[in-house]
Amino acid sequence: MNLRNTTLFTAAVLAAAHFPAQAGEADPAVARGRYLVQVSGCNDCHTDGYMPRSGNVPEAEWLQGSSLGFAGPWGVTYASNLRLIVQDMSAKAWRAHARAERRPPMPWFNLARMSDGDLDAIYRYLKHAGPAGAPAPTAIAPGQPIPTAHIVFVPQPPSGPVQVSAAAKE
Ligand code: HEC
Repeated sequence: MNLRNTTLFTAAVLAAAHFPAQAGEADPAVARGRYLVQVSGCNDCHTDGYMPRSGNVPEAEWLQGSSLGFAGPWGVTYASNLRLIVQDMSAKAWRAHARAERRPPMPWFNLARMSDGDLDAIYRYLKHAGPAGAPAPTAIAPGQPIPTAHIVFVPQPPSGPVQVSAAAKE
């Protein structure tokens, strides 16, 4: 092994130690993408139940979107099924798509600042995860009825104790 090969080998070993690869996963970008979606919070909204279960959701269920609506002055939005939307996109199209302005509460202004390399890693991860689940419901315009469970994202003035009805706790 010459010096260059030794360096590459060491880098590969270190990368594997940081991001444990799954069996048969040859592309190191996949492991990096998995790490990025986990620590940059994508699962918090794009994976059903991720917040209430403190991240304890099997990886096979990640990033399939959610039918829990986010209601506010913008109407109602739903976190998209990222595993489906990426399927017919090139890596280049994904970069542009990921950086486009979105409605709340999508933190698009943070994602827009992600480096090309990191966005590409998330792309590789989504492709590796493969298509699964159903598309999230279509967003609803302000003032329309809301046919799904939803969280109202509107700041409230100071008040007495929060009233949570039995139905809302389910
Ligand atoms: C706080 C909740 C939240 C978080 C965190 C979040 N998203 Fe989103 N995301 C949404 C919602 C809601 C939408 C739909 C916005 C709309 O309809 O305008 C969305 C839309 C998107 C879209 C557009 C998808 C489409 O339908 O074409 C992409 C791409 C995306 N998110 C990627 C990400 C990635 C990558 C992360 C992690 C870095 C992330 N999101 C984190 C809530 C979130």
